[in-house]
Amino acid sequence: MRVLFVASEIYPYVKTGGLGDVVGALPPELIKHNVDVRLLLPAYGEILDSVEKVTTLKTLSGPLYSKKGARILACTLADGVKVYLLDIEGYYDRPNPYVDKAGKDWPDNHLRFAALCYAAAHIADWENDWVPDIIHGHDWHCGLIPAYLRQVQGPKPATVATIHNIAYQGIFPRRLMAELALPADTYNINGLEYYGQISFLKSGLYYSDAITTVSPQYAKEIQLPEYGCGMQDVLKIRSVALQGILNGIDPDVWNPSTDPHIAGHYNGRTLKEIRNKAACRAALLAQCKLNLRSKRMVFGVVSRLVEQKGLDVLLDAMQVILQQGAGLAVLGAGDAELEEGFTRLAKEWPSQVFVFHGYDETLAHRIIAGVDCIIVPSRFEPCGLVQLYGLRYGTLPLVRRTGGLADTVIDNKDKSASTGFVFDNLTVPELAYTMQRAINTYNDKTQWAKLQKNAMAQNFGWSRAAGEYKVLYKSLTKSRT
Ligand code: ADP
Ligand code: GLC
Repeated sequence: MRVLFVASEIYPYVKTGGLGDVVGALPPELIKHNVDVRLLLPAYGEILDSVEKVTTLKTLSGPLYSKKGARILACTLADGVKVYLLDIEGYYDRPNPYVDKAGKDWPDNHLRFAALCYAAAHIADWENDWVPDIIHGHDWHCGLIPAYLRQVQGPKPATVATIHNIAYQGIFPRRLMAELALPADTYNINGLEYYGQISFLKSGLYYSDAITTVSPQYAKEIQLPEYGCGMQDVLKIRSVALQGILNGIDPDVWNPSTDPHIAGHYNGRTLKEIRNKAACRAALLAQCKLNLRSKRMVFGVVSRLVEQKGLDVLLDAMQVILQQGAGLAVLGAGDAELEEGFTRLAKEWPSQVFVFHGYDETLAHRIIAGVDCIIVPSRFEPCGLVQLYGLRYGTLPLVRRTGGLADTVIDNKDKSASTGFVFDNLTVPELAYTMQRAINTYNDKTQWAKLQKNAMAQNFGWSRAAGEYKVLYKSLTKSRT
């Protein structure tokens, strides 16, 4: 079975969040499950610079490929995955795939990602030797693939659209229909039209043969107005085609017994081993110049600083927690207001709060290994990977009961199986109360160690998810023959 993955980011080359992690880790796992996966990505400089050999497969021209034309390049990534790269001069080689320095969307995003969708749908124009059975697109950037496929003659691949975050929808003015070379009949309420505009995401949701999202709980939530971001009705119509497949984590990149970024190595097999985590904590505190009274708990945050993540509420809940001597290490970049809020907090509590605003892969690993408890108080969370990394590193997650967070963390009220702390309502008192519960548990060393052991015994590798995607792919190809 041949599957063409199409996406806008991939770890370790271009990553802004969990989407990059998924696109980096899932294809190699699918290949292990005998699914022949190849990727189509924008020709990012970071990829071109790091692969050994790049060949030009085809030169393309056409309405979506800009006046200068386009090229399909081919290469193989370090992990052996074969990749096609869409290269259009001036389109993709930018410091951030989506936004400029000021955080504003690139003004030509509609063209950049429509071209990617168009190239995917028209793969037969540039690749005759490898014909996909399935085209699997990720997030709104790939939403137009099934719309463009409507113009393609002859046998067509089945399509899968995966929602990593329904809040990002790729909505553009109607007047761009012609520039985007979209079939006129797609501008329809039963199509990609969304309140008088073009919605890339709605196109993906409406026209794809199957829709997946990244946790079973989020699959339920997005059919409700509170979480559907306006797409709940389309999803209701398509609910038979929708399913949640929980993400995994890359067990090699996030492995406390081999992680090259951290100060001590440990596994979860014995409590004695887990105690080696203390070296990571000590190194982190030293690096962050945190000076805590002994045995005080350290909380951590590794996150995009956006409304979704609920960190404005954490800021307000921190005072009472800091008064008790706890620590906080924050790595995150994004909204200016949130960045300022955390910077102020660190100034006010210099020996207890450390903040770094920027993107830093090494520090992300050090915080996840070094803090005692990783906080993810999201308003919504399609899956969330940070809490899974926390579990693997014996760093107990404290999360809001939503989306993938609800599916992956077991609250400590259920003492025997507990892996962390879960709360329901994103309010300052409830978050502070839950952090207090975590501190109380932390002060009971035997109980804490038991939770750590439970957490580290969880298996969130990609194998289960790859198996579920394979079953889905098979069902789609079967229904066509
Ligand atoms: P989302 O995709 O919504 O951002 P996830 O929890 O799925 O949330 O994934 C976030 C990913 O991005 C994780 O791999 C996390 O370590 C990483 N990350 C987030 N912010 C930063 C940052 N400032 N520096 C380094 N890595 C970060
Ligand atoms: C999105 C979501 C996050 C999810 C990630 C990977 O960015 O916000 O919850 O883990 O995609 O699927």
